[in-house]
Amino acid sequence: MVIHGPNLNLLGEREPEVYGRTTLAEIDALLIEQAQAAGFRAECHQSNHEGEIVELLHRAGREAAAVVLNPGAFTHYSLAIRDAAAALDVPLIEVHLSNVYRREPFRHRSVVAAVATGQISGFGALSYRLAMEAALTLAGGEPA
Ligand code: DQA
Repeated sequence: MVIHGPNLNLLGEREPEVYGRTTLAEIDALLIEQAQAAGFRAECHQSNHEGEIVELLHRAGREAAAVVLNPGAFTHYSLAIRDAAAALDVPLIEVHLSNVYRREPFRHRSVVAAVATGQISGFGALSYRLAMEAALTLAGGEPA
């Protein structure tokens, strides 16, 4: 399961100098193809709502082989998302388009990172591809 957090529906038009020009629909299409090539089905969701992301993580815990999560700004303060992530028994890859460690100090802290399997940050749309490769490999599929 792929979960994109708040404001990521605006990808392509939102601060393109930071987040690039690739749209979310383009990213999702690539991820679905990448998963399919490894014998998995990627289900992609975007939500601007913390509780909805919590519920998606609960569902992922029951149904998914791995989770790719970009919590957006929730990364930096949502303990509800962190707790839902901590409850997962499947690999969780935290992903960011931008290199959060090169940006404002408030972005340097991720409350999710300590409960994630790993984190990928700073490669633009490629971050997602790398995150999916990690998720597929950890879930036992063939990396693309
Ligand atoms: C982001 C980084 C966050 O700090 C920011 O709030 C986002 C996107 C990224 O993908 O680079 O919304 O998660």
